[in-house]
Amino acid sequence: MDPQRPRYFPDEADALDAVPFTPGFGSTPPCLVGRDELIRTVCASLAGDPASEGATNVLLAPRGLGKTVALNEIEDAARAERGWLVVAVSGTDGDPIAETHKEVCRAMESWGQAQGEPAGRHVSGMSVGIGGLSAALSVSEAPEPRRTRYGDDLRRDLSELASAAAEAGSRVLLTMDEMHAIPLAKARQLGSYIQHIAKRERRGLVFVGAALPYIAETLLADRKSTFLQRLAIHRLSPLSEPQSRRGLQEPIRAHGGHIEPGALDIATAAVGGHPYMLQLVGDKMWRAAGGPGNTITARHAGAAAAQASESLEDHLFAPTWQSLSDTDKRFLAAMSALAGTDSAPRVAEICETAGIGQSSASAYRRRLLLSGMVSPGGRGRLRLAHPAIAPWVQRTVTASPPAAEGSLPSK
Ligand SMILES: Nc1ncnc2c1ncn2[C@@H]1O[C@H](COP(=O)(O)OP(=O)(O)O)[C@@H](O)[C@H]1O
Ligand SMILES: [Mg+2]
Repeated sequence: MDPQRPRYFPDEADALDAVPFTPGFGSTPPCLVGRDELIRTVCASLAGDPASEGATNVLLAPRGLGKTVALNEIEDAARAERGWLVVAVSGTDGDPIAETHKEVCRAMESWGQAQGEPAGRHVSGMSVGIGGLSAALSVSEAPEPRRTRYGDDLRRDLSELASAAAEAGSRVLLTMDEMHAIPLAKARQLGSYIQHIAKRERRGLVFVGAALPYIAETLLADRKSTFLQRLAIHRLSPLSEPQSRRGLQEPIRAHGGHIEPGALDIATAAVGGHPYMLQLVGDKMWRAAGGPGNTITARHAGAAAAQASESLEDHLFAPTWQSLSDTDKRFLAAMSALAGTDSAPRVAEICETAGIGQSSASAYRRRLLLSGMVSPGGRGRLRLAHPAIAPWVQRTVTASPPAAEGSLPSK
């Protein structure tokens, strides 16, 4: 290589595994804190009778609390500890039925390819050469002229996959991230397939979904689908202070860094129990201090906390705010103003403050829950999903106030 040529890529030594924090949605952090118990509980449910209620689960939490990461941990555990076949789909990928079918077909193909591999190799977590596996492989050997589009034969193919897995002494774990994005009719359809396969045919098919909490009142309250009604709900809580502290400190130590006690206090307070914020603060102070071998001081932590809040606003709050109507914005602004005196104000009180008629209160409440900015506070009350939302909304509203009721809606 030309020695004169400038270098643009960072040193390979600074590559991925040298980074202690992972400030990106869906990125598994090197130190996952506070989720062991939840993951164990879900895994124990999945390990029970597939025809029982515990075999179908959903993780609920606002954005950035670690649903995708927890779901991925469960998938990895199912593969590594039980050799289960995992079919993972996201509700935002397009038609959930077609996407699930595509993944089921892909899983079948992996088995087909696995046949040609030397014994002992693992494909999709399944051991090749287990009795019964070859019977399942014939499914994908001949191209299927019948299939004109994905989705048509999902129930049949998923059932065959589960049956092949059962013959090999295994199970199929189906996961659906971003389940809130699925239309009700599709969720009902998918639910009826899963129930049919697991309960009627008694095949080893188990399920874990992940979604924003508001689906407890929409999808999960659906009277027509017993699958949706009976999903076992697991709520991810914010991290406790000791958990946040450990989540910041351990990766720093493990990567050859140090943090002063005062700096750790500042950083922990800035995290506010929010896993995404933890990764942001950690990453920024690690970089500010200059990486391995350096000590993170209170100055680094303070600067990182300020930058991280900005990042949280840009990536979490601003996009959501922009998608809201003017009245939604006024509702949220009223709630943020009230949050100073009452952390979970009553919906009626919010409407009064915002000058919104009570008749449309439930519609705004639902829309705001849907946005992930607020969560249910119990008994007609609402809570902001993160402590940084109230001051951010107040600043934003001061800078550009939403139009008053009566003016044309912005969308
Ligand atoms: N238990 C945890 N401990 C530390 N960091 C976490 C934890 N759970 C998630 N994170 C981090 O938080 C961020 C958001 O996680 P993600 O799973 O994408 O959230 P969600 O799916 O709920 O929006 C990611 O940067 C991830 O690395
Ligand atoms: Mg996610």
